[in-house]
Amino acid sequence: MRKAALHNLGCKVNSYETEAMQQMLEEAGYEIVPFREGADVYVINTCSVTNIADRKSRQMLHKAKKMNPSAVVVATGCYVQAVGEELQKDAAIDLVIGNNKKKDLISILEQYVEESRNTPEDYIIDISQTPHYEPLSIRRIEGHTRAFIKIQDGCNQFCSYCIIPYTRGRARSRGVAEILEEVETLVQKGCCEIVLTGIHLTSYGIDFAESEKENLLGLIETLDQIPGLKRIRLGSLEPRVITEDFVRTLAGISSICPHFHLSLQSGCDATLARMNRHYTTEDYAARCDLLRRYFANPAITTDVIVGFPGETEEEFAATCDFLEKIHFYEMHVFKYSKRAGTKAAEMKGQIPEPVKTIRSERLLKLTKEMSKEYRKSFLGLSEEVLLEECVTVDGVSYWAGYTKEYVKTAIPYADGLGGTLISGVMERMLSEEIVCLSQKR
Ligand code: F3S
Repeated sequence: MRKAALHNLGCKVNSYETEAMQQMLEEAGYEIVPFREGADVYVINTCSVTNIADRKSRQMLHKAKKMNPSAVVVATGCYVQAVGEELQKDAAIDLVIGNNKKKDLISILEQYVEESRNTPEDYIIDISQTPHYEPLSIRRIEGHTRAFIKIQDGCNQFCSYCIIPYTRGRARSRGVAEILEEVETLVQKGCCEIVLTGIHLTSYGIDFAESEKENLLGLIETLDQIPGLKRIRLGSLEPRVITEDFVRTLAGISSICPHFHLSLQSGCDATLARMNRHYTTEDYAARCDLLRRYFANPAITTDVIVGFPGETEEEFAATCDFLEKIHFYEMHVFKYSKRAGTKAAEMKGQIPEPVKTIRSERLLKLTKEMSKEYRKSFLGLSEEVLLEECVTVDGVSYWAGYTKEYVKTAIPYADGLGGTLISGVMERMLSEEIVCLSQKR
């Protein structure tokens, strides 16, 4: 049996696609082995979001060839899409497969056996021109509890720092029937929670023809009808999707998790304008107010970039004030990292690395404090936890999982509880990051 190893770089959408390719390889008769020596085929699903991501992608491709010089090394994904022809010249890489072509992995591999190296025109399409959503799917998940479901690809927003619209093409949505089929299959296998994921989730449905018109809200309502599906969580959203109608309807859907990741990037309007983000801080704050009006203590999480070109001390201070005002549960803090080919990479006023580090550390400290406060705000309340993993705290074993608000919670270990939903009262802090639940009797 031929052996295949896969390695993923980048975002949740890429992970989903790596999982789908792994399942395709298994069905084609490959044995999946760890990403170490001994595989006949190495598939590296690359990322190109920053210059560093490009470098990591190249390193993994070379590492694979080093591990087995006679193996077929396959480069797929966003880095391939960004620099396709250049990769053709790299002796460490045997096959290059761009986005929207991953579905053909098996036939491309078979063809390779007969014809050796491919040319970029074969497997790298002009991604900006395709209106087609690539049909990839998964039939099982590791751990059986939470599944990330890709429902959308591409982006039409063109933020000034982001290469993704060029590597992923325009917004394209997955058909409702395919999503339903995938989720139903996973639920039958014991999955209780899904996380809807996409490159720009907010755009779900904008490319559908009038006859099949559907949007994110309609899709959620349809998925909510699936028997056995306990929780629907949403991936990263743009603030503008949070309208009163949207939130009011969501609040009436029992499976929806009140956990909203609203991508912010900066709390300063001038910086947001340079980033080409299509909202102001006032607008953003109003959307958070709406969420807090319809949900009791929802988890609001976000992404922030520090050290964007031209970010002055005053602008950064405005961001800090805004973050405290919104009071997020969690913030993913990124130091701005140049990506060649984007407008921001050419902007004047690039910020020195040490300044970015100071700003990032300040926000990491702030997020730690706000997260702690948010977790503590649940003490004494009744919550439901989906148990997922065993953890040890101070030498004692527990089952741990997450509430609907994504607060990590644990109960003392007992056999056979993995994958179950347990209700109880949030009793005390077990550690800085885990709350201990006392079960209802
Ligand atoms: Fe990277 Fe492509 Fe995702 S650039 S972050 S893998 S969309």
